[in-house]
Amino acid sequence: MSDLYDFSGRTVFVAGGTSGINLVVAQSFARAGASVAVLSRTPDKVRAAVDSLGEIGVTALGFAADVRDYEAVNDALTTTQAELGEIDILISGAAGNFPAAAESMSPNAFAAVVDIDLKGTYNILRAAHPHLRKPGATVINVSAPQASIPMNLQAHACSAKAGVDMLTKVCALEWGPEGIRVNAVVPGPIADTEGMARLAPTPELTEVVTESVPLGRYGTAQEIADCCAWLASPHASFVNGAIIPVDGGWSLGGAAQVFTSMRALMSERA
Ligand code: HXC
Repeated sequence: MSDLYDFSGRTVFVAGGTSGINLVVAQSFARAGASVAVLSRTPDKVRAAVDSLGEIGVTALGFAADVRDYEAVNDALTTTQAELGEIDILISGAAGNFPAAAESMSPNAFAAVVDIDLKGTYNILRAAHPHLRKPGATVINVSAPQASIPMNLQAHACSAKAGVDMLTKVCALEWGPEGIRVNAVVPGPIADTEGMARLAPTPELTEVVTESVPLGRYGTAQEIADCCAWLASPHASFVNGAIIPVDGGWSLGGAAQVFTSMRALMSERA
């Protein structure tokens, strides 16, 4: 990304930006010259992420906060504007997931994922809005194929991410007149992420997932970062309210099938 885009002088805030896809997104914007703030729950991960951003040579801030805690989120975004200026690029990527059948997970398990993914995204966008550059800011929500495809063992994630997609579209509608574009990127199976480690934890399941992707492989976090860079760049200046799959074609059919296979495997083992 750094050789294609120049984000120097820009401020980027990445919720969930201390591990997995979101950390690579944060580091990519830093390599392209942006100042970057990251937020996540675990203080050690926040410190490590800020150190890695500092090593790239940009100004970096970190906040240890849970996206479910609106006051903490609000403090983080207020501090970011005070220290780094108005926010040009906001990425909302904090998420939680695990495979579990609708009839057997606890109500609290369902609520935890909805609270993190959907209400957490709302908290980030709501708290960020006063601090976004107007006109000019870009918001990117990290969604999932679950948002539009019903999948076995994913009632919680499907419900939450469907809400994220609709929130994306409503905010695009409401904030477009202020010059803020709001879009979502939809990663497919991405290598070396906690999400895929939880959803496909064995070599057997990894192979099932790989074969279900038309391009025949997992994606990389850098491929998601590259889409975020394009969305945040002037090349996407008329893109607003879009939900963009970056999944090797997984959502064309393989995504639903793989969770059906997973359910069958889990039932065999039970
Ligand atoms: C059934 C489970 C469970 C599991 C947790 N729970 N794991 N139920 N199967 N495997 C239940 C708990 O028993 C509890 O219910 C409730 O969920 C809340 O769990 P806690 O651990 O108390 O809560 P919390 O610490 O807030 O954890 C949130 C979490 C957890 C979502 C449950 O997994 C988490 O923190 N995940 C963050 C990291 C993560 O998941 N990353 C992957 C994201 S990838 P009870 O009733 O016992 O109190 C992603 C992309 C998806 O989301 C798309 C991929 C293609």
